Amino acid sequence: MDIKDRHDAWLLLDEAHSYGVLGKTGRGLCEHFNVDPKRIELTIGTLSKSFASSGGFIAADTNVIEWLRFTLPGFVYSVGLSPATVASAHKALDILRAEPQRVTKLRSNSCHFLDAAKAANLNTGMAVGEAVVPILFSSPEECMFVAETLMAQGIYAPPVIHVGIPKDLPRIRFFISAAHSIADLDRVVVAVAHAAQLFQTQHARLSAE
Ligand SMILES: Cc1ncc(COP(=O)(O)O)c(C=O)c1O
Repeated sequence: MDIKDRHDAWLLLDEAHSYGVLGKTGRGLCEHFNVDPKRIELTIGTLSKSFASSGGFIAADTNVIEWLRFTLPGFVYSVGLSPATVASAHKALDILRAEPQRVTKLRSNSCHFLDAAKAANLNTGMAVGEAVVPILFSSPEECMFVAETLMAQGIYAPPVIHVGIPKDLPRIRFFISAAHSIADLDRVVVAVAHAAQLFQTQHARLSAE
């Protein structure tokens, strides 16, 4: 913030992963770092994550928004969000405001999942335990195998492999929710560890043959 102010630069903040997650009441990065949101020139966000809808938004000074309205292709040759989409995001926002304890629960669930994964010797990379926790695998094949094994057990956690992420860092991203129970989270960690172990045993056997 100080660097941008010193150089009279603008900051564009992407809060896609932080609204509903970071800060005591889920208000995002500014609340988390105790920064006045008015100091941020442009903030973008999506309705597709914590707000359980689709579409996105941009927040800025009135003059900037007015300029964007007349220049962004999304406004000039397209239509706005549908009322149903806006209504569901609006409701999610109401719930977030009325029940900030969900943010606390999300944080404790995320930390629990991260700690349990680490205790099971799973590679969680640079995860900090805030809603999205990745588990990394040593090959795309192992990653696919684990995801398929989880799916067969009713756990929906799709694999993320190249080109979505670098070739050597295949992973499954686990999206933790305030509605998960500790038992749900523990069950997933055990299932991942077990599937990874199975893959490694089979792989070692095949390599030896
Ligand atoms: C950092 C970041 N910004 C913006 C978006 C855009 O989200 P959407 O296209 O769902 O609105 C995403 C989606 O994953 C994201 O990860």
